[in-house]
Amino acid sequence: MAANENSPEAEAQYLHVLSAFLAMEPVDSVIALARECTGGSITDKAQRFFWELCVKASANGNASYAKKLLKKLINEVELENGQVLDQVYEEYALYMSASKEDALVKENIRITKFISFLFPEGSYKLPSCPNSRELVIPLQCSLNMLEGDTGCSIWPSSLFLSEFVLSYPDLFVNKSCIEVGSGVGMVGVCLAHVKAKKVILTDGDLLTLANMKLNLEMNHLNSDDELLKQPGETQNTQVKCIHLPWETASESELSEYRPDIVLGADVIYDPSCLPHLLRVLVALLRKPPQRDNSALETEDRDTAQQGRSPVVAYIASVIRNADTFNAFLTLVDKMNISITDVTGELSPHFELLPYMHSYDRSSVRLFSISSR
Ligand SMILES: C[S@@+](CC[C@H](N)C(=O)[O-])C[C@H]1O[C@@H](n2cnc3c(N)ncnc32)[C@H](O)[C@@H]1O
Repeated sequence: MAANENSPEAEAQYLHVLSAFLAMEPVDSVIALARECTGGSITDKAQRFFWELCVKASANGNASYAKKLLKKLINEVELENGQVLDQVYEEYALYMSASKEDALVKENIRITKFISFLFPEGSYKLPSCPNSRELVIPLQCSLNMLEGDTGCSIWPSSLFLSEFVLSYPDLFVNKSCIEVGSGVGMVGVCLAHVKAKKVILTDGDLLTLANMKLNLEMNHLNSDDELLKQPGETQNTQVKCIHLPWETASESELSEYRPDIVLGADVIYDPSCLPHLLRVLVALLRKPPQRDNSALETEDRDTAQQGRSPVVAYIASVIRNADTFNAFLTLVDKMNISITDVTGELSPHFELLPYMHSYDRSSVRLFSISSR
């Protein structure tokens, strides 16, 4: 049943359609969401809504997606013997008349997806935007998941890890966090929104790193390659992007980061990288040497020692290949660290991406890893 057009339910449903469109969800799924708003058929209002979105999307360089959506929309309205609006036909005709070369160029360029995290009533309010019930993160990414663009795609585990960060802000507030294989940088943006003290995003691929920096800028987070706080720096969360290939990261470099929390999303997939990834994780999980507290009073000394909790790593992963994951577990066992599946215990409280039907949250596992 469609909600009354002006009711809060209808508004929420249209927000889902808009969010799905901005995240460039598969066009079938976006149109199915629109049908939910209207009680089944595609109304003139829904057509006008999509037409406006497509005009804006194409102005922002996402013409290829807008074209796919309009094509599907026209097909479905015609199948129902409905009336396609003139402006919808005209907009589609514009894309059709673009030259073939133009279309090819558009297919190859990076696109900007807008990922909207929708906070339901009664859920957490972000310190960065306390009056808003949504956080929209623009991210430049590639539609091509393979051929060297692995790190420029949004993988399901980073959606999960982002929901996790936004659901458990208290775990991250005022904490120093480092992420391995950060890809587009979405988890880092979420960490900044929950006011982590320091966010170090890393990747081994230089093109991915350049794209990540651009994404931080799009999200109004300045990054630089200097690890030390600059004099006069006013940003609440320090965000850094670092080139950190697991194979060559030196022990001395890794020992400098001293994080409270290590994060990683979809980083367990290449068997040849696993020993290197684990070496990096073990080094990051190592507690920094105790400071010389001998001059402190006994009580102060105890407080100083208790002050620092053990470092923990949260790794989210889709287990696509059981052999690869078992190889990871075998290495974990050999390296004096322990791993616990915390998916049930620490599952995100709220579904913050309810419109994103392409994201199967249940396919992702969350592991906590710490030194024994
Ligand atoms: C599947 S992608 C996941 C990206 C992102 N975390 C996400 O979930 O959307 C794996 C990421 O790990 C990075 N990576 C793969 N092998 C690496 C290595 N040996 N050293 C450092 N980073 C690596 C890739 O460049 C890529 O960004």
